[in-house]
Amino acid sequence: MAARLCARHLPPVWLCRRAAQGQGRHYRAALCAELKHPLITEEVASRPVGPQEVRVDVHFCGINFADILVCRGQYQEKPPLPFIPGIEFSGAVLETGTDVSTVKKGDRVIGVSNFNAMAEECITDQKTLWRIPENVSLQDAAVLPVSYGTAILALEHRARAQPGETVLVTAAAGATGLAVIDVATNVLRAKINDAFHHVMQRKSTGKVLLSLK
Ligand SMILES: NC(=O)c1ccc[n+]([C@@H]2O[C@H](COP(=O)([O-])OP(=O)(O)OC[C@H]3O[C@@H](n4cnc5c(N)ncnc54)[C@H](OP(=O)(O)O)[C@@H]3O)[C@@H](O)[C@H]2O)c1
Repeated sequence: MAARLCARHLPPVWLCRRAAQGQGRHYRAALCAELKHPLITEEVASRPVGPQEVRVDVHFCGINFADILVCRGQYQEKPPLPFIPGIEFSGAVLETGTDVSTVKKGDRVIGVSNFNAMAEECITDQKTLWRIPENVSLQDAAVLPVSYGTAILALEHRARAQPGETVLVTAAAGATGLAVIDVATNVLRAKINDAFHHVMQRKSTGKVLLSLK
């Protein structure tokens, strides 16, 4: 599942300026301050990027089941409170660390981060960022990292699916299932049961997006 949040349209009343006002740059972020409670929007202080890191102006953030679980304290990772949820995003590169060679300022990118993407900007390692082709929108690209990353990890790295082998997808209606079908058929040239093709054609991706622009 995924949704869209537009930070510019957030009601001003939601903004609590607790975080060190006036001391350097700040950006707005959705914070999980208490487990099983609604997220709050706060201004948080920017930090400098490390040598391998990239600061991204986040436009869209996918909302995944993992975000829901982590905000309930039910995910395998339990970040200390308060934390910013969000593990996949799209946006434009704002700043690069001294050793970054894969992207440059202004590039349109998608990325995965370790729970800090539901914000106007986030910092992530250059290894977890990919440039978006010109003909793909930031909105469409934002939900690709988790679903397609999971599909590639499962089929290529774990199952080592080979051309001509049959892949069984037990639930192919949502983002992950559809990505598995796409990767299996179009990248790995494996076979998929016709019934799953039917499901894929019937439904588009079930993901919801969070829009920050
Ligand atoms: N291990 C990993 O790395 C990893 C990574 C990604 C996802 N996942 C897991 O994979 C699962 C799917 O994630 P997703 O991002 O693909 O979610 P998604 O896009 O929301 O898809 C979930 C699908 O399940 C269907 N569904 C929900 N409840 C159902 C029910 N009671 N009976 C039948 N169908 C039902 C939904 O149908 P409707 O659209 O009709 O509601 C939707 O098509 C989640 O459990 C997620 O945590 C794991």
